[in-house]
Amino acid sequence: MIVKGGTKDELYSNLFPQVESLVEGEPDAVADMANVAACLKTTFGFWWVGFYRVVGEELVLGPFQGPVACTRIGKGRGVCGTAWAERRTVIVPDVGKFPGHIACSSLSRSEIVVPVFRNNEVVAVLDIDSERLGCFDETDRLWLEKIVAIG
Ligand code: SME
Repeated sequence: MIVKGGTKDELYSNLFPQVESLVEGEPDAVADMANVAACLKTTFGFWWVGFYRVVGEELVLGPFQGPVACTRIGKGRGVCGTAWAERRTVIVPDVGKFPGHIACSSLSRSEIVVPVFRNNEVVAVLDIDSERLGCFDETDRLWLEKIVAIG
């Protein structure tokens, strides 16, 4: 796929060292999540990019870029809660076909959710929504898993 300024893989390759230099010098997780969301939003123009943090038995909205979103998601609920419960990246090419999808915006058509692990525990998830069907693939999974492992 060609996105403005290069292929998706080229854009991630260029972005990765920038994210590394932003995140590696800053130990505060909220500051780091905010900059990662901003980098992904400005590079790819995704509809919504953000983090939900694990707080007790729920995911709670963290730093994000895009329209307002639901603030709390239970374990196993929606795409985000599924990625948390199953400890794996979930790619949904058509959110209309995902049972239990939580629609924060009717314009969102496809989604990827990547768990963030620290000490083998899921501490947050990175959620990206697109207004296009089938926006996310293995290239996104590979690079986004590398990005959330930084720090
Ligand atoms: N669609 C998500 C909820 C979060 S918003 O899209 C930002 C889900 O089903 O988990």
